[in-house]
Amino acid sequence: MPSPSLAPDAIRVLAVISNKGGVGKTTVATNLAIFLRALDEDLPILVLSTDDQRVVDRMFGVTDAKPGRDLADGWARGRLDGVIQTGQYGVDWVPSTGDLAALRGSAESPAALRACLEATARSGLVIVDTKSDLERLTVCALHAADLVIAPVADHASLLEVEKLLSLAPHPARVRVLQTLVDRRTRISPSGPLLARALRDEIARRGWRRFDVELSRSPRLELLNSESDRPRSVLHDARGTAVHREFRRLAVEVMRALEPRETAPPRVPAPPARPAERGDERDLLRWFRTRYDASGR
Ligand SMILES: Nc1ncnc2c1ncn2[C@@H]1O[C@H](COP(=O)(O)OP(=O)(O)OP(=O)(O)O)[C@@H](O)[C@H]1O
Ligand SMILES: [Mg+2]
Repeated sequence: MPSPSLAPDAIRVLAVISNKGGVGKTTVATNLAIFLRALDEDLPILVLSTDDQRVVDRMFGVTDAKPGRDLADGWARGRLDGVIQTGQYGVDWVPSTGDLAALRGSAESPAALRACLEATARSGLVIVDTKSDLERLTVCALHAADLVIAPVADHASLLEVEKLLSLAPHPARVRVLQTLVDRRTRISPSGPLLARALRDEIARRGWRRFDVELSRSPRLELLNSESDRPRSVLHDARGTAVHREFRRLAVEVMRALEPRETAPPRVPAPPARPAERGDERDLLRWFRTRYDASGR
């Protein structure tokens, strides 16, 4: 298929950001990519990480892939063509760099990542996993994003959202996602009471949040830790609560990525947005007509 022309809204960028470590950023970014791809197999999805932990590489890389050029090389050139790899689950990915100092060198302007992505011959969705900081690379991801997922697992990560919002050029694009919700025991310090307290606090502060909350799942923990290659919730945790939650999250993300009002309409008369709880197939059809930059 020919490369689509790079209309201003040819790509959408989703970043997963929290200054707090271990709240589920990478798990959300990687598994959401797989669920979104499964929801719409015509939607190209690219995953990259500004962290140097290489979880993205282990999840999506094919076993015999040779180490080659990475995110730092592509970003330094100002476009990612040539460093993007076709990965497992039909998800494209960019090899993470071990040289974060070099990567930071390309990130002097907060607009640098968005510019790099827009210069890349690519449409569809880009998902950016970030390191647990609010430094230069994360700020670039924040500025690149049409939608920011801010995972909140406890009070400390909730307080970090305040900082994130203060740095965000478009705070309305930041949405809190409650993660690691322990539903097994009511008295657990990370149990439903904590989840409710966090929900109330998020509402009190008037922050946007996803309706769905991600459970703490022993199965998911196992998928992430059984071997050096994390396994997919979509494929290997069927029938679990966290599987259903990721599916709902994927649908909510699609809704949240509705083009900004200022974006020129892609079709003369876009169909009406499906009802909030409408059929997922209607939502998909609607989503494609709004986003498909490839002229299919
Ligand atoms: N829903 C979940 N249920 C159970 N364990 C989870 C869940 N989400 C994440 N984990 C586990 O929590 C740990 C942290 O998850 P993850 O690496 O995704 O967080 P992170 O925010 O990316 O961390 P870091 O800040 O180190 O990059 C991992 O061991 C992961 O397996
Ligand atoms: Mg991570």
